[in-house]
Amino acid sequence: MIITFKKLFFSYGSVEILKNVSFEVAQGEYIGIVGPNGGGKTTAIKLMMGFLAPSGGQVEVFGKAPENARTKIGYVPQINAYDKEFPISTLEVVLSGALSHLHWWGARPQGDKKRAKELLKEVGLEGLEKRSFGALSGGQAQKALIARALMCDPEILLLDEPTANIDPQSEQAIFEYLKKFQGKKTILIVTHNFDAIVKNVERVLCFQHEVSSMKPQDVCEHFAIGMYHNHE
Ligand SMILES: Nc1ncnc2c1ncn2[C@@H]1O[C@H](COP(=O)(O)OP(=O)(O)OP(=O)(O)O)[C@@H](O)[C@H]1O
Ligand SMILES: [Mg+2]
Repeated sequence: MIITFKKLFFSYGSVEILKNVSFEVAQGEYIGIVGPNGGGKTTAIKLMMGFLAPSGGQVEVFGKAPENARTKIGYVPQINAYDKEFPISTLEVVLSGALSHLHWWGARPQGDKKRAKELLKEVGLEGLEKRSFGALSGGQAQKALIARALMCDPEILLLDEPTANIDPQSEQAIFEYLKKFQGKKTILIVTHNFDAIVKNVERVLCFQHEVSSMKPQDVCEHFAIGMYHNHE
């Protein structure tokens, strides 16, 4: 198993966010993460990255503490409008996904720029390399961050609402683009779009402080009307 949560608890101060959460993710799975606002989705992703530590129980990635597996993970954080306000070009944002490639003297290996440009093209941002990241539209910025996450050719991709600002057509394009990695990379994508889930992912983890694993078809029936509940 590539990702394992074992009887995991997490609290911010005295507020319990995740309660006795256990699940496993196998190599090559394409998983959708759903659940109401505040249900603990982003918290779970941050635990997988080792940015947060559990208050009880365990999380392991590749059988190790998550912080020791980070170089194998491509991460697309949930972004807010103000996160974009830094003066850096779109190409540089994508390149920053490969910082671990840098030579010890700080030079970038040949080939990184070429790869970054290819990735921008693949996600549909060809020609925007020099545009300031802050000047991109919300959807374009999300796509740039997906390209950034792919720069290190990660084994796992964690995407926290990467399609939140994206029009339906581009959104479907992104889900389909990710499908090309199916079976090769392990993908976990947080989304509130049930339609996209039913069409694209293989399994769904629903976070509402506790976690249940279900088939995409079942999610549609129970959650499309806003009813989040554990129906096992
Ligand atoms: N740094 C923090 N300190 C205290 N509470 C926090 C902190 N970060 C998040 N929380 C709280 O933890 C709960 C879970 O947050 P989390 O971001 O994991 O939810 P989510 O499922 O990702 O929600 P959304 O769909 O809105 O992104 C929320 O009630 C949130 O307010
Ligand atoms: Mg979130």
